[in-house]
Amino acid sequence: MHQLEISDLITAVDPHTGRRLPVRRTEVIQQLRESGDERAARIVAGLAADQDGVLDPHAVDRLLISVHTELQRLSEELRIGERLVHVLGPLFTAIRAAARQTGAYRLVDVGCGLGYLVRWLAATDALGADVELVGVDLDATLVGEADRLARAEGLTCRFVHGNAFDLPEAATVYVSTGVLHHFRGSALADFFQAQAASPAHAFCHFDIAATPLAPLGAWIFHRARMRNPLGRHDGVVSARRAHSDETLLRAAAVPGIRALLYEPRGTANPFCTTLRPIIGVRPHLEAPLRRALGRDARHMVGPEHLVEAGR
Ligand SMILES: C[S@@+](CC[C@H](N)C(=O)[O-])C[C@H]1O[C@@H](n2cnc3c(N)ncnc32)[C@H](O)[C@@H]1O
Repeated sequence: MHQLEISDLITAVDPHTGRRLPVRRTEVIQQLRESGDERAARIVAGLAADQDGVLDPHAVDRLLISVHTELQRLSEELRIGERLVHVLGPLFTAIRAAARQTGAYRLVDVGCGLGYLVRWLAATDALGADVELVGVDLDATLVGEADRLARAEGLTCRFVHGNAFDLPEAATVYVSTGVLHHFRGSALADFFQAQAASPAHAFCHFDIAATPLAPLGAWIFHRARMRNPLGRHDGVVSARRAHSDETLLRAAAVPGIRALLYEPRGTANPFCTTLRPIIGVRPHLEAPLRRALGRDARHMVGPEHLVEAGR
């Protein structure tokens, strides 16, 4: 059973200082072999390392930028920006309606990678001029490249290297794409709790819908669209690691948050759904969000749906 993504293993940073740590190629290969993933072990064996067997950080950075550039192309084809705005537009409408006074809002993209989403939102002005757009990533190289691209494109948005939950300014809404499945077990609960404990009004995290077809769909799509063996490998593993509706609804239902899943399994065409969001709102925002979504609110369910569905 393949469970590990290569990109999670070939970089390491000190969680306190953010400093890059050396990664030994043989240790990564051993981890992958132990997980039964010989193919991934071969991919890592082909990566450049110095005479001490430490992976060349510059080669790793170039590789990850190239894989994320291919990922950006997938996001463009899957119209991730439009899909996000379909939910985020009504979410900000609800937040504005519930606010006692007008003000500036801040969207924080957790694990923004090359910042495609934040740059797309900035380029289209889809959420309005009162929403500041900030992308944050623990990976200095990816976030540096996001910043370079935003400047080259002349966009009004910001990129920050670090932990999205340690920012000096509070987020109004936390979002992410393709990040949730990286958090396993208690780390997933901690992820939602960090947001509930912050002053944020809501979160909206898109990740791959765990359907029986997801791994096959991911294999076909990544085979057709991605060139890099690492990208192809991690794309399929991501689909296998995708969290079920139940896991997400249970983990996101933390005190102070109303957890809602948009397009749960069974309501959407399994051939079309690729990413769907788990949404969390402060309880007073649920009614205005449903009003702002209009007829589409019927696609959004809370944890009680699991009981009704007998899961
Ligand atoms: C698979 S990448 C997602 C990239 C991007 N969202 C996309 O769709 O292309 C996951 C990223 O999340 C970042 N990450 C995980 N936890 C984070 C946190 N608490 N704060 C900032 N970045 C985080 C990792 O550094 C990694 O680059």
